[in-house]
Amino acid sequence: MEPTDEPSAYERDAVSPDAHGDERQLEGALRPRALTEFVGQERVREQLSLVLHSAQRRGRAPDHILMSGGPGLGKTTLAMIIAGELGAPLRITSGPAIERSGDLAAVLSTLQEGEVLFLDEIHRMARPAEEMLYVAMEDFRVDVVVGKGPGATAIPIEIAPFTLVGATTRAGMLPAPLRDRFGFTAHMDFYRPDELELILHRSAGLLGAPIEDDAAREIAGRSRGTPRIANRLLRRVRDYAEVRGDGRLTLETARAALRLYEVDELGMDRLDRAILDVLLRRFRGGPVGLSTLAVSVGEEAETVEVVAEPFLVRSGFLARTPRGRVATPQAWAHMGLTPPPDAAFGAAADVNGSGANGSGGNGTGGQGTARP
Ligand SMILES: Nc1ncnc2c1ncn2[C@@H]1O[C@H](COP(=O)(O)OP(=O)(O)OP(=O)(O)O)[C@@H](O)[C@H]1O
Ligand SMILES: [Mg+2]
Repeated sequence: MEPTDEPSAYERDAVSPDAHGDERQLEGALRPRALTEFVGQERVREQLSLVLHSAQRRGRAPDHILMSGGPGLGKTTLAMIIAGELGAPLRITSGPAIERSGDLAAVLSTLQEGEVLFLDEIHRMARPAEEMLYVAMEDFRVDVVVGKGPGATAIPIEIAPFTLVGATTRAGMLPAPLRDRFGFTAHMDFYRPDELELILHRSAGLLGAPIEDDAAREIAGRSRGTPRIANRLLRRVRDYAEVRGDGRLTLETARAALRLYEVDELGMDRLDRAILDVLLRRFRGGPVGLSTLAVSVGEEAETVEVVAEPFLVRSGFLARTPRGRVATPQAWAHMGLTPPPDAAFGAAADVNGSGANGSGGNGTGGQGTARP
């Protein structure tokens, strides 16, 4: 996601899945460059490998590819890998950068044959540009409107066959005609702890700070299934080890550093705990509406819905019901509180404790599926 002008206090915290400040640059160095280096997302990797290699075999640009999934799960990384695997040039733009259809026409009409166009945050593109994109995706043509009013004419311009790679954190916000024009959709899931461990070992190596196995396991368990968070916590632990320790990334250092940053054993931070606290103490476990909950913790509804809630649902602490958000028995237990006799319980969602089931089914929580 694009950094907003005025980040909320929460966005500066350790376990927000959004990239903050100069983090994008730091991340560049840690990005895997090839599909074989990309950890996890097995199914997506396999499907994608097929799409890419069969297109190459036929000597044609592959189908347009849509990647949907929460922030920090590797969409940008995968887009770069796609271009790399195809040996094709990559052009990068984003939805918010396309304010008028002319902005898109300028990009499309200068594409080279076979180029990969990465359109990040595609759900935030201006509406008039969407229509232009449909035609470009289907017919490799752009209709440029010349003149104004009754004298305006559309001049069709042929464009080079290209592959569009769109990324979105809110697949539900894409208009159906746009979604339908992608030949392949990759649903990015949260990562399993063992996958995050691999990522951490790899990143630590690249940072020149090898990490001990149990320290990697500890960080992985607190990373909320998200590589970006894992890499960020790793950097914090490394800093801590350098300043307060002897530079070695051990379990003790990892624990001490994460305690300092208020990231608990489950990867919950202040916002998560604040939400549970309000839900349990003030609303007796719910049900309570999203906006009321957000106001009570002093956050934007979107932050609560996109950042905190999917994690709380996935961890089995919170359930979304038609009447609102409801705490589960696990939530009461985790916060060390006794539920009142008349408490409404939500059924716990994914309680297998792994944080991700790896089956491709749980990565869609909170992605624009509007619920009360
Ligand atoms: N499968 C993976 N293996 C190794 N590292 C990964 C993987 N996925 C993501 N990362 C690392 O996590 C960080 C964030 O990934 P990336 O920028 O691709 O996320 P994103 O989905 O594009 O996020 P956003 O929605 O915020 O744009 C990068 O530093 C990247 O190297
Ligand atoms: Mg990205």
